[in-house]
Amino acid sequence: MKILVATNNAHKIQEICQTVATLLPFDDISFVQPLDLGIDISPDEKYATFEENAYVKALEFYNAASMPVIADDSGLEIEVLDGAPGVNSARFADAHNDEANTRKVLQLLEKEDNRTAQFRTVICYYDGVKASYFNGICRGRIIAEERGSNGFGYDPIFVADGYDVTFAEMSSAEKNAVSHRYRALVEFCSGMKKMGLK
Ligand code: IMP
Repeated sequence: MKILVATNNAHKIQEICQTVATLLPFDDISFVQPLDLGIDISPDEKYATFEENAYVKALEFYNAASMPVIADDSGLEIEVLDGAPGVNSARFADAHNDEANTRKVLQLLEKEDNRTAQFRTVICYYDGVKASYFNGICRGRIIAEERGSNGFGYDPIFVADGYDVTFAEMSSAEKNAVSHRYRALVEFCSGMKKMGLK
């Protein structure tokens, strides 16, 4: 079965493909990227929930490709900021500027003792008829300064519970074994199995 990964974020595509390969080792699903199909669209992620944004991405890529799609909407939720940046994670300080967004978080938390945060992913799988949703959360904390150069987004300032290293200090295999995206993909793979795939 072929599924389009409805994102232009190369890091997300890599994490999704690598993780699903470890969860469904039977080659049941092969992923296609927008660029493979010559699709170059950027849906407007203007909604207030991860679910709505994931659905809009899934729908627009489905309409462009006419094949089943998986879309991921995700973000960082910081307790003391009432869940911000949340759905605005990609544009908290400046659109798709990871450095500026990370700097803003560090500045806002400069004098804060409560560093509790979590990453959240909502995956929407849409086959043209039905949308199914799968959730993943990874709890942790925001450290005082950036560490590491792997990954993307807020990875250099996030340490998952039970770890001392940031996501950006982990290898992609290590991050993909604990992350919010991994947890949502576990749900997705088990949902796909129930729907009839291996
Ligand atoms: P989306 O493309 O609307 O889902 O935006 C996701 C944004 O949330 C990214 O631009 C990052 O800033 C942040 N984000 C989501 N997942 C991760 C992750 O795994 N690591 C670090 N930052 C992430």
